[in-house]
Amino acid sequence: MVRFYKKKNVASNYDEKRFTGQGGQIIKERENRIVLDLLGDIEGKKILDLGAGTCRYSIAFAEQGAEVTALDISQEMLDKGRAKAKEAGVESNIEFVKGDAMNTEYKDESFDIVTALRIFHLVDDIKALAEEMKRLTRDRVLFDFFHLWSLRIFYNKFLPMNSKLRRKRKMKKLLTRKGFYDVELRKDFFIPYGCYRFSPKPLPKFYKKLDYLARKLSPSRRASSVVYITGRKS
Ligand SMILES: C[S@@+](CC[C@H](N)C(=O)[O-])C[C@H]1O[C@@H](n2cnc3c(N)ncnc32)[C@H](O)[C@@H]1O
Repeated sequence: MVRFYKKKNVASNYDEKRFTGQGGQIIKERENRIVLDLLGDIEGKKILDLGAGTCRYSIAFAEQGAEVTALDISQEMLDKGRAKAKEAGVESNIEFVKGDAMNTEYKDESFDIVTALRIFHLVDDIKALAEEMKRLTRDRVLFDFFHLWSLRIFYNKFLPMNSKLRRKRKMKKLLTRKGFYDVELRKDFFIPYGCYRFSPKPLPKFYKKLDYLARKLSPSRRASSVVYITGRKS
């Protein structure tokens, strides 16, 4: 799985494959909005972005005035991220670190916020990753996961990175059992990423409307394919 992201062509095509075109743009904008909204005011905060990849979130955090450490196991992904940060004019606000999110060398509570976005579906030991996030944060953690009971179940096993689907209750317990409070879940994408990404214009805009309708019909958003979760450390 990690090897998948270390491949050079994966890093060079990562953003192009996921965040361009009508569907990709919708995904990128909506995710950015949700994540920034959940974090609130981050100006001046020290943020560690675990599994930063090509740094779309690290860059968004730096643009909001945060001091960011972007950590990833793949140098190729980070190199791409650095080039994007330079282009966005925030390279000097981000430190790019090659390392393993499961086992970092930072001291306890080195960061205000620790994020891990689109990485919980890749790791085997989610408890260990949550424990490391708790150790490193002074205040808050934020991560996301792909939800088992969603339309994603129909295509997930065909993906090349051995992506795992998770149960909402189990993921919430990862935080509540560790003593986090103010635990908040935000669910989205009843229509999963794959449909947005692989459908030609104007279908993604139609899916966006369907997603809106699904939210209206089921305010609890039970079958959302992506869940974002945040909590404060007690
Ligand atoms: C799907 S990408 C997500 C990138 C970014 N967070 C985003 O949302 O666009 C997953 C990233 O996690 C990284 N990764 C996987 N396992 C890791 C680990 N144990 N430590 C650090 N990075 C890891 C991969 O190299 C890859 O860049």
